[in-house]
Amino acid sequence: MLDDKKFYSKLGTTYAPGIMNSILLPKPGTKLIRFTGGSYDVPSLPTAEVKRIFEDASPAAWAEMLQYGGTAGMPSLLNELSKFMAGHKINADPGKEIIVTTGSQEAIDLVSRVFIDKGDQILVGAPTYLQALSAFRAQYPKFVDIPIDSEGMDTQVLEEKLKKLKASGKRAKMLYIIPSFQNPDSSLMTMERRKQVLELAEKYDFIIFEDNPYGYISFEGPMPTPLAGIDKSGRVMYTSTFSKMVSPGMRIGWITANPDFTGHMIEAKNNISICNDGLSQYAATELFRRGDVERQIPKVTKVYRKKRDVMLEAMETSWPRKAKWEEPKGGLFLWVKLPRGFDTDALLKDSVAKGVAFVPGSLFFSKPVHNYLRLNYSLPSEEDIVTGIQALGRLLKEKLK
Ligand SMILES: Cc1ncc(COP(=O)(O)O)c(C=O)c1O
Repeated sequence: MLDDKKFYSKLGTTYAPGIMNSILLPKPGTKLIRFTGGSYDVPSLPTAEVKRIFEDASPAAWAEMLQYGGTAGMPSLLNELSKFMAGHKINADPGKEIIVTTGSQEAIDLVSRVFIDKGDQILVGAPTYLQALSAFRAQYPKFVDIPIDSEGMDTQVLEEKLKKLKASGKRAKMLYIIPSFQNPDSSLMTMERRKQVLELAEKYDFIIFEDNPYGYISFEGPMPTPLAGIDKSGRVMYTSTFSKMVSPGMRIGWITANPDFTGHMIEAKNNISICNDGLSQYAATELFRRGDVERQIPKVTKVYRKKRDVMLEAMETSWPRKAKWEEPKGGLFLWVKLPRGFDTDALLKDSVAKGVAFVPGSLFFSKPVHNYLRLNYSLPSEEDIVTGIQALGRLLKEKLK
């Protein structure tokens, strides 16, 4: 057997398959109800719309799709993205301030490569998106955890931590934030706090990386203006994606930032992927032009609101009182707090044995906290939501006796 360990880089060693990979491998003949990733409701995917787009494509369109394209993205898609963002008060020049990326995940990777050095102080939510923590870790930063409550990131603690850093001769370089329906707890940051974050960024001179995949999936009125729509000095970089509102498989994401920042990120992307997939970019452009994106967002939001309600009702009727949660006002996840000392990593193994999977909360903290779990309601059917939540409720009652 090859001794694989001696070949990995220092970073490569950290990519050993984690708890989710080992536990969630499908076992033949058994059904696993997955409340895990943020996958799309399958019947709601825009299958017919995308099929029609390819049937209608002209020879010139096919040539553009199948050829190399510019690293920043297809000009027609960049124009559509600029128009789409203008509808949410974000002004971005399609010629130099937007890059199409392979999902938002590539945007996170680009930011990590271009802006983070070893030892940099990076402000993150506690909890926050696990794959952002993982992408940032590749540059060996120091994470500064800022608690999240039902109104989003706690700006008072943020200011205290910034003051402390300054007093010890250090400075925060970047804040990573998901203000609208934070992953994993679905909290929605108030407008007052959004403005405070921007004031603190000016005062303490750090940049902000705003990640907004879930803001469009809002159950109670339009999403509040993103930080990028309020920023006056070009210190906010903003990423969003088709993944939650249209299709994750298309891998269409984008990042907008000031032209100096995008210039550097385009060079970095050139090394990673040269350019995005042309077929997907063409389909995305046409979905915008034909009004399909505008129709798809309210359509899928309605489906997710119903599934959220089904999950909440099943939890209220079958879960122990010691488990606590808040009603998500948007997004795809329910975040559950269990009593201190409870270990959801251990619970996952028993839960999978009973045919139900969730994501243990420890993965969403830079320094593990074990008494939380995240449930996804966008992928499973309403029937599976009820069955899975009841099974998990029985297991929790047993464990919390
Ligand atoms: C907060 C957040 N950012 C980014 C992503 C990456 O999404 P994608 O690469 O599919 O656009 C996700 C996916 O779940 C997410 O939750």
